[in-house]
Parts: sequence; C-alpha cells; structure tokens
Amino acid sequence: MRGMNGQMSALSLTFKTSLAALALTIAVAAGTPALAQTEGRNVQPAAPVAGQVPGDALGASSDAEIWRAVRRGLQGNVSIPNKQAGVLIQSEGDNWRAWRNGPVAIYGAWALLGMLGFLALFFALRGRIKIDAGPSGRTVERFNGLERFAHWLTAVSFVLLALTGLNLFYGRYILVPVLGKEVFATIAQLGKYVHNYISFAFMAGIVLMFVLWVVHNIPNKNDLIWLSKGGGLFARNVHPPSDKFNAGQKIIFWAVMLGGFSLALSGVSLLFPFQISVFAATFSVLNVFGFDLPTVLTPLQEMQYAQLWHNAVAAVMVAIILAHIYIGSLGMEGAFAAMGSGQVDRNWAREHHNLWYAKLDQDGGAGGGGQRQPAE
Ligand code: HEM
Repeated sequence: MRGMNGQMSALSLTFKTSLAALALTIAVAAGTPALAQTEGRNVQPAAPVAGQVPGDALGASSDAEIWRAVRRGLQGNVSIPNKQAGVLIQSEGDNWRAWRNGPVAIYGAWALLGMLGFLALFFALRGRIKIDAGPSGRTVERFNGLERFAHWLTAVSFVLLALTGLNLFYGRYILVPVLGKEVFATIAQLGKYVHNYISFAFMAGIVLMFVLWVVHNIPNKNDLIWLSKGGGLFARNVHPPSDKFNAGQKIIFWAVMLGGFSLALSGVSLLFPFQISVFAATFSVLNVFGFDLPTVLTPLQEMQYAQLWHNAVAAVMVAIILAHIYIGSLGMEGAFAAMGSGQVDRNWAREHHNLWYAKLDQDGGAGGGGQRQPAE
C-alpha cells in the first residue's frame, strides 16, 4: 500500500512538473510579462536533486500566475497549421456554453411553448375564423404555380430545418432519455446532414419569395387601420382594408426575409468555419448607438457569436411561423386553398383582401373568370 502511495505521489509530481513545464513553454514563447520578471536577475541554479528538474524553473512567478495567464487565453506556438491550437484554455468557450445552455435555450423554449399556449387559447376562445358571408362556391386565382412553388420550397425546407435544428438544441434533454445516447447520436448525425444541405433550398426559397412578393409588402396607411382593428381576427364581421397582403402578412413576410437572411448568413458562417466574420464589424456599428460591445474578436469568438445568434433568431422565427401555420390552416376557413390549389372562394377574398379583390374585379379577373366550384 505504502509502495502504491509512493508511486501515486511520484506520478502526481511528474504530472505537475510536466504541466508546469508545458505552461512555461507557452508562456515563454508568448513572452508574458509575468515570466519576464526573471530576466536580468542573477539566479543561481540550485544543485540538482536526483529525479527533479534542476533550477528555479518558475523564476519569480507562482503557479497561480502562470495558470491565470493560461486561463485568460495565453497563446503559445504550435508547429501544426492550426495556430489556434496554441491556446490551452479558451475561457470564452465557457461563456458561450453558459449562454447556449442558459438564457438562449430557456427563453427559446419559452417563446415556442408560449406561442403554442397562445394559439391554443386563441382557438379555444375564437374558434376557427369562418367566412362571415359563407362560401360562395365560386373561386378566384390567388397564387399562381410559381408563387406556390416558392412558398412550399421555403415552407418544407424551413420545417425540416426547424425540426433538425431543434433536435440539435433540445434533443439531448427530450430524446436522449427516451431513445438512449446511441440512437439519438445516429438521428442527430443524420439530422445534421439534412440541416446542412436543406439550408440551400431554404435560401433559394426566400430569394424567390422576395422577388415575387416584395412589391406587395411595402407598408402603407391601410396597414395602420388593419392593425388598429386587430385585423378583424378577434370579432366577427370586422374586415379592415387589405390589398394582396394585409399588415399581419407583411409582418410575417419581413420577418421571414430579415430573419431568413440573418439565419442564412450565420448558418453559412457555421457551415464554413472561420471564413466569415461579421460580429466585430457589427458590434463597432452598434457601439455608435451607445453599446459597449467587444470589437476585437478571435475567429473562434466570431463562431461562438454566430452560433448563439443562429439559435436565438431560429427560436424567434419558429415561434412566428407557428402562428403563421396555424392561421394558414386550422385557424381560418378557406385560407389553405390559397396555397393548396391556388384558388380561393370569392367571399373569402372579398372579406380578407377587399382591395385586391376589387382590383381583380376591375381587371375582369374576378368577375366573369371565376369558376363555380365547391369552395374548401
Ligand atoms: C408548413 C405549413 C404552412 C402552411 C399551411 C402555410 C400556409 C400559407 C398560406 C395559406 C398562405 C397564403 C395566405 C393568403 O392567401 O393570404 C401563406 C403565405 C405565406 N407563407 Fe406560409 N404556410 C406554411 C409554412 C410557411 C413557412 C415555413 C414559411 C416561411 C418560413 C411561410 C411563409 C409564408 C409567407 C412569407 C407568406 C406570404 C405572407 C403571408 O401570407 O403571411 N409559410 N402560407
């Protein structure tokens, strides 16, 4: 037993000595002030004791000073191409992990659960929003084939991105206890591939939607009236003015465009690590408005900010899109047909998009051309 203890303490001593020597190598290479204190001193090396490193290896620096420097990201030299490997401890990584698993994960979950709760309450109180005049049985074209293609390209890819992204974020809490680590790891790996590749379809979708619909999403004074009346969503027989898109839809449109662009940019920088750095420059601009954000960031810190931003924006986007999916399907009679067949009931069009419908009427698009069909 005594022999074993002796071996253990010898091992521990060797380990400590190796660590100190490693830290010293890094510190000397980086020329830390702490270690420079030994310079110019006439230090007499002590006589070597058997088995020990000769001399006063740490000079006037204590272990604590060396480790503090290492802990603060002291960078040494390495001979491999990845120079960042010369940093033994990147303390910002701890901050990143604390943010990711703390506020971002917690508030993200609240946003999603809060939205689901709100929609359930809204459905319980308001029920499905009906066509007040009842379906006319005659339809009019709302979206052509290209518009529907753009929508479903974006929608399907977004749903896949959301599911696989949420799995990466919350899967360890929800799926690991149910499926076990092995199965979860396989699913997460496959999900990651889906996430990476499908992102390009999403990006193409938002570009196409932007080109097709931006002209219909410029805010105007009717939007204020629409908003002041709550879009008529909370009462029967209230139908504020709306062109092709109402104010609520314009908000969705711009949220998808700006949120989608931001997700795409941060996503691409995660996909191609250390190639795109946008946060230091963005922080410099924000500091003009009184913020006090760091403007010198290492490539690794840029990646950490990109990752946090990507998660936070994604959570907000998913919450918004949950509301959109609800109102475009279960929440409103006659809405889904617009993106399904592309044809909507005329009474639906008259109630929800009166200005757009009136223009169609003038152009002869809604009048004689309307088909008599059972409305959905
Ligand atoms: C997956 C289920 C979805 C359903 C059932 C759905 C349904 C609809 C419907 C019916 C419309 C036309 C509304 C109208 O005629 O005025 C629409 C429009 C639109 N959708 Fe979706 N959608 C879905 C997912 C998405 C996703 C994931 C996105 C984007 C990430 C998206 C973005 C849009 C945009 C920007 C519009 C035009 C503005 C608006 O109506 O809000 N949709 N959607």
